[in-house]
Amino acid sequence: MTRKIVIAGNWKMNTTLEEGLQLATSIRNKTEKTTDLDIILCPPFTHLHPVSQCLENSAIQLGGQTLHMQEKGAYTGDISGTMLRQVGCAHVLIGHSEQRQYHQETNHSVREKYIAALKASLIPIVCVGESQEERESGQTFTVLETQLREGFQGIENQIQASCIIAYEPVWAIGTGLVATPQQAQEAHAFIRQTLKSITPYANEIRLLYGGSIKPDNFSQIIQQEDIDGGLIGGASLT
Ligand code: PGA
Repeated sequence: MTRKIVIAGNWKMNTTLEEGLQLATSIRNKTEKTTDLDIILCPPFTHLHPVSQCLENSAIQLGGQTLHMQEKGAYTGDISGTMLRQVGCAHVLIGHSEQRQYHQETNHSVREKYIAALKASLIPIVCVGESQEERESGQTFTVLETQLREGFQGIENQIQASCIIAYEPVWAIGTGLVATPQQAQEAHAFIRQTLKSITPYANEIRLLYGGSIKPDNFSQIIQQEDIDGGLIGGASLT
């Protein structure tokens, strides 16, 4: 099974609008002839529309960093899937560990947001991953399995081959600690195995590694059998 590699840049709450446009332009120029990768940029909400204009007629795709589970209504400060779609997004991150940590994202809300993303014709990038404490106490697989099973509970038949899952061990995000290629492959293989028991598309779904990816550690990680790309935070800004 060949799965096209995905490189997704998660800008988080970084860049001024001007810096964001410069970054998008430079990525666009440098990847003009690249056809063997799917490139996705996830800038802050306020940059989405201008960045989408800057990426017009390029193959680079745009993603939101989260969305609200409702389509519209009295949810001050939130953004719906339809709104993301209207400003040019094709993707949306769901369940990023920073949303889980700072915005009370749970496996249940991941599930609701997954449904909302599909309704808005967005491709969900669902993030899972264990904390350092969970890894050290040998709970990595249990945590991953629970995140996947609860996240997709009752909506297994809505899992599509195009949906993307990112394995991001929380202890590796923004810390400079990166999973070894073996640790990453082991978790990815487990995720794919678990997916096999919930969807017929387990072999088609692309699994991304995320957590302190840098140019010098990525080449080994991407060679692993079950790793189909990267979700890159800090290093995607340069
Ligand atoms: P990092 O972030 O590459 O800065 O560790 C990854 C992410 O949070 O998506």
